Amino acid sequence: MQPCTIIIFGATGDLAKKKLLPALYHLNIENRLTDNTRIICMGRQETTQSQWHEKVTEYISLKARNGLDDDSLKHFLSKIDYFKCDLTESSSYQQLNTQLQDPSRNYSSNIVFYLSISPSLFGVVGDQLAAVGLNKEDLGWRHLVVEKPFGYDQKSAAELEQTIAQNFTEKQTYRIDHYLGKGTVQNIFVFRFANLLLEPLWNRNYIDHVQITHAEQQGVGGRAGYYDGSGALRDMIQSHLLQVMTLVAMEAPADLNDESLRDEKVKVLKAIRPITEDMVDSHAFRGQYASGVVDGHKMKGYLEEDDAPENSVTETYAAMKVYIDNWRWKDVPFYLRTGKCMPDSRATIAIRFKKPPQELFKNTDIGGSHANWILMGLQPDNTIRIELQAKEPGLELSAHTVGLETIETEDSKHKLDAYEALILDAIIGDRSLFLRADEVDLAWKAVDPIINKWSKEQDFIHTYKAGTWGPEEVTRIFDDPCHQWRNNV
Ligand code: BG6
Repeated sequence: MQPCTIIIFGATGDLAKKKLLPALYHLNIENRLTDNTRIICMGRQETTQSQWHEKVTEYISLKARNGLDDDSLKHFLSKIDYFKCDLTESSSYQQLNTQLQDPSRNYSSNIVFYLSISPSLFGVVGDQLAAVGLNKEDLGWRHLVVEKPFGYDQKSAAELEQTIAQNFTEKQTYRIDHYLGKGTVQNIFVFRFANLLLEPLWNRNYIDHVQITHAEQQGVGGRAGYYDGSGALRDMIQSHLLQVMTLVAMEAPADLNDESLRDEKVKVLKAIRPITEDMVDSHAFRGQYASGVVDGHKMKGYLEEDDAPENSVTETYAAMKVYIDNWRWKDVPFYLRTGKCMPDSRATIAIRFKKPPQELFKNTDIGGSHANWILMGLQPDNTIRIELQAKEPGLELSAHTVGLETIETEDSKHKLDAYEALILDAIIGDRSLFLRADEVDLAWKAVDPIINKWSKEQDFIHTYKAGTWGPEEVTRIFDDPCHQWRNNV
């Protein structure tokens, strides 16, 4: 591990409080930050070092896995500096540069810039850093970590990329999709490529369809102001769910090199069958939650949330059917769906196999043939379940479904947060779990026609009661009347 200086822009924001600072605290406990790694927290507020340390203590105490340990906290705080900065002011960057070069402070000249700020400021910060030469790698490496949203459609994402590319190269840019930092999501890759057993079956000859579901019990909470300009399709499907889909669908990479892996993911995204405007209704569906009860708690409807515009048709539930037109997957539907205020918080992949070619048991109690399923639970637990048919004990020839199942429940003391893995990789310089510009572009290309059509249809959206699995009309995107959502693993 090399020492480095981690500079967080937007350190007083929500992401830093809830994810970044706790993740860095845990990495420090695990000895993953070298002794002279330092963290500079950039914020607009006037705050003394000791006041900032108090705040950091407060944020971490809410998240510390084993409770706050005094020695670990003291050690972590000794690495943290607060830097008051006006992001648009060049003098702030000159001062920052001077501070970084001050020999008495002994900052490492390897730098991770973490942009936890609005994408509209990426350009400003990039230009200002470049103006003082902080993007140059003469003395040490520079890694720029950026958070989603990467634009709000293909065009705006391309513009954002151009802005970033003015000052940082692709090799220096680390685009975060926190789903790729989840161990269970990485397990898709291991499950597929560490088991020879699956490979012969993992294609259009045996698989009928694939479902990828992300459901969460919470509503938009205080985020309606942001969320209303986004909606579930952009917020979850364009980013996280399409990423999960690429891992399910990709070919084995030549090696574990970051570019080999991303090349294979890009091939999947390139093969997505384009959806034209007249196909949108049969390939995508949107819904919005109305008031209801989730897990015994009353929830207000989306339109009653603070900051949700009256008559908004922003979707809090979205489903999409994707075809991947390549040899492996041609004509196999991949159904992706996500929703807020659902009965359960879980993310799953459900793979349904085709039925046996011969109805051998049709005239017995076993009846028509049943399909096999492979189910992978990504959260809350890491689950793999393979469903098969077996004869029920007894004299009759009747069958029941048996499941071969593993459930790996991480105990809360060791449960890693996705951000820990991602920050560590950004320090090490491993880009496998970060998105390349072409991945982002192609993922937008896949959803853009839906976004366009929905933006023109502003007078109606299906609603669903909070605490249900979304509007029933979603079934219109299914290819086959026997397709149904799997809501449980
Ligand atoms: C974020 C979305 O990227 O992912 C949120 O902006 C969503 O709206 C969240 O709730 C879901 O992430 P997780 O890890 O809780 O499944």
